[in-house]
Amino acid sequence: MNLEVFYQIACLFVFVIVPSYTGPNNLHLDGVSTAEIIAGDVFFEITDPVELEYTYRVRPAKDFGAPFNESFMVKNAALVPVVPRYGCNEPENYDEIEGNVAFVERGECSFKRKTMMAERIGARAIIITDISKANEEYFIEMIDDDSEEEVNIPAAFLMGKNGLMITKTLERLKRKYAIINIPVNLTFTPAHKMNQPPWLGW
Ligand SMILES: *[C@@H]1O[C@H](CO)[C@@H](O)[C@H](O)[C@H]1NC(C)=O
Ligand SMILES: *[C@@H]1O[C@H](CO)[C@@H](O)[C@H](O)[C@H]1NC(C)=O
Repeated sequence: MNLEVFYQIACLFVFVIVPSYTGPNNLHLDGVSTAEIIAGDVFFEITDPVELEYTYRVRPAKDFGAPFNESFMVKNAALVPVVPRYGCNEPENYDEIEGNVAFVERGECSFKRKTMMAERIGARAIIITDISKANEEYFIEMIDDDSEEEVNIPAAFLMGKNGLMITKTLERLKRKYAIINIPVNLTFTPAHKMNQPPWLGW
């Protein structure tokens, strides 16, 4: 084989291998490209504790709750894990959630009921996660359960891997909440500068 042919074959391999490598890797993490991220999803950032200082992507509920529109902006609010964690009934720590963002786990009742409960105790938004091993890498589409109630605060789903790290880190630090800004506007931020949590593998 002469050198030129070798080069052509080598180039072909680089061309073929690189795209097929990043493709599944991105899919594994997100299932969508950066362009799609910006279309529907919302980001929030944790500013305290330092161990959680990253930008997190969430998916707004599909057909219930208020939109994350231009007039929704929450700065320096507490993201408060609800006690007990499913948030189906009035939580023990309702006074910490008022004026802040409720953080609950999927299960035991509908997404909408959790949102309704959070609204009733004065939360400004709710973030729901699913930390079970089977679902930790997925965005769950949150849909209306056809109940009559209206809900008037925004609800969004956080990937379980992030939910678990936030929960565990707060527990370890004996902290009752994290401080967040939601949404953060990343329209002109390239994907590699998004300050994604390292445990997602970026
Ligand atoms: C945002 O949504 C809220 C709740 O639905 C609504 O009251 C408000 O007018 C909306 N703001 C804008 C700028 O669309
Ligand atoms: C994000 O920022 C860009 C540039 O400042 C602006 O054009 C866009 O409307 C903003 N998006 C939101 C949702 O605030």
